[in-house]
Amino acid sequence: MADIAQSSPSLQERLRSAFGSYVTGVTVVTAHTNSGEPVGFTANSFTSVSLDPALLLICVGKGLSSYHIFSTTKHFAVNILGSEQKLLADRFARFRGDRFDGIEWRSSELGSPLLAGSCAWFDCQVFNRINAGDHDVLIGKIHNFSDQGENGLGYFRHEYFSTDRRILA
Ligand SMILES: Cc1cc2nc3c(=O)[nH]c(=O)nc-3n(C[C@H](O)[C@H](O)[C@H](O)COP(=O)(O)O)c2cc1C
Repeated sequence: MADIAQSSPSLQERLRSAFGSYVTGVTVVTAHTNSGEPVGFTANSFTSVSLDPALLLICVGKGLSSYHIFSTTKHFAVNILGSEQKLLADRFARFRGDRFDGIEWRSSELGSPLLAGSCAWFDCQVFNRINAGDHDVLIGKIHNFSDQGENGLGYFRHEYFSTDRRILA
């Protein structure tokens, strides 16, 4: 098969669009700098990996402004956004200032930021980090987690949606 990345930007765009046809939830992945500053970015690459041991993964883009933190951190948290948290998704994807200023959050047992109102969170230590093209696959071992049982925020073809409606059999 041809090397898509090197062959043409339009092929990459079509690949991005094909990836976008997969319906996902939305998370904010967080960590702390060595000096204690909270950092975070919006991510939909979250995947559950294993129950025993309890593992999850997230893909971290090498172009992220906080990549130098996520490429070395020993801990991180994944906050699954609720259906009312679209503004947080936008903020952690785009805002250039202090993304934690004015929002409610606290530090987890392992020291990573947990956002108030998320429908679930996972407090992780890094289990493995795999170099994968323009991303790293970050596998986390879950130290602690919480599930509020609320509806999550969905994402499909570059748009957010609410998961409040169920298709009944
Ligand atoms: C819905 C959504 C999902 C995203 N998923 C990921 C992801 O899984 N991994 C990633 O590195 N960036 C992802 N991004 C991009 C980052 O959130 C961010 O916008 C971009 O990397 C620029 O971040 P920076 O301003 O922190 O550098 C996603 C953005 C959106 C809006």
